[in-house]
Amino acid sequence: MTLANPTVPPTPSPMGKGTLSRQLVLRVTALVALLTVALGLFTSLASFQILQRELDDRLQTAIDRRFPDGDNRRPGDLTGSGVIRIDTIDGQKLLTSSLAVTDEAAQQLLALPASPDPVNVRLDDLGLYRVLVRDRPSYTLVALPLSEVTKPLTSQLVMTALLTAAMILATYLATRRVVETSLRPLNRLTATATQVSNLPLERGEGQVPIRVAPADANPTSEVGRVGLAFNHMLDNVEGALAARHRSETKVRQFVADASHELRNPLASIRGYAELTRRGSDELPEDSAYALSRIESESDRMSALVEDLLLLARLDSQPTLDLQPVDVTEIVLNTVSDARAADSEHKWSLDLPEDVITAMADPHRLHQVVANLLANARTHTPAGTAVETTLRAADGFAEVSVTDNGPGVPTEIQSSVFERFTRADVSRVRQQGGSSTGLGLAIVAA
Ligand SMILES: Nc1ncnc2c1ncn2[C@@H]1O[C@H](COP(=O)(O)OP(=O)(O)OP(=O)(O)O)[C@@H](O)[C@H]1O
Ligand SMILES: [Mg+2]
Repeated sequence: MTLANPTVPPTPSPMGKGTLSRQLVLRVTALVALLTVALGLFTSLASFQILQRELDDRLQTAIDRRFPDGDNRRPGDLTGSGVIRIDTIDGQKLLTSSLAVTDEAAQQLLALPASPDPVNVRLDDLGLYRVLVRDRPSYTLVALPLSEVTKPLTSQLVMTALLTAAMILATYLATRRVVETSLRPLNRLTATATQVSNLPLERGEGQVPIRVAPADANPTSEVGRVGLAFNHMLDNVEGALAARHRSETKVRQFVADASHELRNPLASIRGYAELTRRGSDELPEDSAYALSRIESESDRMSALVEDLLLLARLDSQPTLDLQPVDVTEIVLNTVSDARAADSEHKWSLDLPEDVITAMADPHRLHQVVANLLANARTHTPAGTAVETTLRAADGFAEVSVTDNGPGVPTEIQSSVFERFTRADVSRVRQQGGSSTGLGLAIVAA
């Protein structure tokens, strides 16, 4: 029976998908990105309002300084680039500007109603303008280009965007470095746990030779406490495994001793029964029957004791006497023996043309095939076909014994290779066989 090792998940790379490091780095970076973008937007909005208020103040000052030199026949202040004015001079509306204003733009301006607050207007050819119109004491209009607000704001936005990007990148790199350094002990702990999970703990004397390094088992840090707890757990597991190993060794030794000690008295019982039966001619019929039963039962018990002894030996020193073995011959002989022992089953053989030789222990190999054939004989009804196949596969010799009988009962399938596992005993008895449930355990061992 092979004990499958639990599959260990592959160790993810330090910044792999789903790792704590990756999540921490991404979340911190996302938070910083959110805050810097919000801050950038807020300062840009504040700057926009300040710049626009300045522009509005300039509009107010300009509209108040209608005729700077007191001559109300001349247009008002035109200082600043792109200023457009409309003043009432001698009852006429006069447009003055430092740049060319199309008729459409002039019409757009004249159509604006008077208002205490400036408004934004997109003028024909000239773009966005901020305009203040007043009609008291007389009609006056001053317009300044809105680019005086948007230009500095755009450069500020570009600067903010560049700074934000640099800040996000710096945060990402710094957090990544910090997180990787802080989580390094945790990664070492994972490596240790992986090593332990790969240990063949079901075998050996229960030693667990791996521990978390003292530097990573320091109770002052969170990871260190995990390391410490992990080491305690390993101590515990090691203790439990060693205790189990000791008790198993004791039981094994006991079984080996008991089987060994039982062999001689059993042989004596059988010997005396045989002697008595043969020695006296006029034994009553029932006594003769009883003696033959004593003989056959002591045979059965001797076989059982031999099996137990064999298993105990295989457990304590599973050494095989490996040598080049003609597997074809062994299979051929074992099937011939089975055919001789039972002619009611249909025994067939499927051998390759070439002789197959393998490194094996000939006695054990014979025993394995014989046990499988004995099962096919005892646990299937008469007339069942049993086919034994031998073939070479991937550098191994593969022997299989297949019968078309009822099959291993489902309730014992999972434990069929364990000791003393057997199906309903009465059925086997009815078929005249004996069953101890050790045959397949020996095969597996
Ligand atoms: N070829 C088979 N067909 C049906 N059932 C089987 C077959 N081989 C084994 N089994 C079932 O598996 C059980 C365990 O087999 P195993 O060889 O270990 O013990 P056993 O044959 O009962 O006793 P032992 O071989 O020690 O005399 C059997 O009791 C039987 O119920
Ligand atoms: Mg058997």
